[in-house]
Amino acid sequence: MSEKKAVIAKQIVTCDKNSSIYKNAVLEIAGNKITSIKNIDYFDKSSFDGNVYNFPNLTLVPGFIQTHIHLCQTLFRGLADDLLLLDWLKLKIFPMENALDKESMRASVQLGISELLLGGTTTILDMGSLRHHQIVFEELIRSGMRAFSGKCLIDINDLYPDFKSDTKDTLKEINELADSFHGSNNEKIKYSFSPRFVLSCTEKLMRDSKEMMRDFHGSIYHTHASENKEEIKEVRNKFGKENIDYLNSLNLLDDETILAHCVHLNESEKSQIKNTQTRIAHCPSSNLKLGSGIAKIPEYLKDGISVSLGADGAPCNNNLSIFNEMKLAALIHKPFYGPHSMDAETVFRLATIEGAKALHLQDDIGSIEIGKKADLVLINLNKSDKPVSEENVYSDIVYSASSSDVEFVMIDGIPVIENKRCKIFDEEKIIASAKEELQKLLKRI
Ligand code: GUN
Ligand code: FE
Repeated sequence: MSEKKAVIAKQIVTCDKNSSIYKNAVLEIAGNKITSIKNIDYFDKSSFDGNVYNFPNLTLVPGFIQTHIHLCQTLFRGLADDLLLLDWLKLKIFPMENALDKESMRASVQLGISELLLGGTTTILDMGSLRHHQIVFEELIRSGMRAFSGKCLIDINDLYPDFKSDTKDTLKEINELADSFHGSNNEKIKYSFSPRFVLSCTEKLMRDSKEMMRDFHGSIYHTHASENKEEIKEVRNKFGKENIDYLNSLNLLDDETILAHCVHLNESEKSQIKNTQTRIAHCPSSNLKLGSGIAKIPEYLKDGISVSLGADGAPCNNNLSIFNEMKLAALIHKPFYGPHSMDAETVFRLATIEGAKALHLQDDIGSIEIGKKADLVLINLNKSDKPVSEENVYSDIVYSASSSDVEFVMIDGIPVIENKRCKIFDEEKIIASAKEELQKLLKRI
């Protein structure tokens, strides 16, 4: 029989179709699945034959989902500030990623996962780096996180020519990685195919990786697109097309493709994204810090385009906090579209159920419903910097909460954060190891 657990909470914000909220409620779990949600009055603690997690003052929400992350860049936080995208890549990020070895990759990934879990993110779509991708999977599996990840694909690189790999070798390697890891760790790990961006890939690598993806059911094609005006100009110079036109001409746009950013789209490009049901990962903190611009998210949503949220990598935000992304997603569009645009509930849904839909995981995660997987986050909203009115829980979370308010996190029915401490990684140890590995890495450049 599967192990039983119960979580008692002050309220459960389900994010289901009706946006149901249960006050003074109990959620029961068997194995990795939610089996019931009921009022505390109907729960007999003394006869329950499982672990009871008692949080009568905390708010229970679905695990947060971030659809654009670079775990391999966490080590570089604070080392690449105040630059535009192409200089940021050429002068800082590509040289540092090129210098990653197995140990520094492990340190970077551990640091990133630890920050994400502590902040209530339970599922990510990770872009990966050029080398040592096995390490990313090893640490994701150890952490218990739900994740899509894949070696990032670069077989041309005019910005930093040392940082690329041979097309044929790359295709062979990603096939082996996908064979080994897709569906691993009780289906929590999925392989995603990750061309870095149009400027870093031959047409063959882009097409063949998309073709290969068909052998791995439930996979995702993940790339950056139309983030920065200079990037778009380069794409135009190289391929004679707008970025999205080019991707579409290679048949790469469909409902299994997630494009990070999409800051600068013309009307025709927007229509192509809508008509192909391509997903957009909105990364507001990254778009502001790299000076890329502000994506027209309220218009994309009005058109029915799938939008979800991601922090991007640590050197472009400089935190992997879903709370920062939610708050910015809610705020940055208001000066142009008005204060009613991007209300708190809409934004909260982008960080939960819309992320799940983008990844085709909406039957399993993204909301708290019977039959879904127990990916759960408990937040403390009883603090002096939170509204005392308790009028609107979405507002309390989106406008007032932060990662430090997360107290407990469960993934697939297993607690990963308890009492604000990561159960898997020892924070002091991973910070010490990250500092050491970063110094060694910088000497290698
Ligand atoms: N475009 C290509 N690579 C990257 C990256 O690492 N970060 C961001 N923000 N954009 C990119
Ligand atoms: Fe990115």
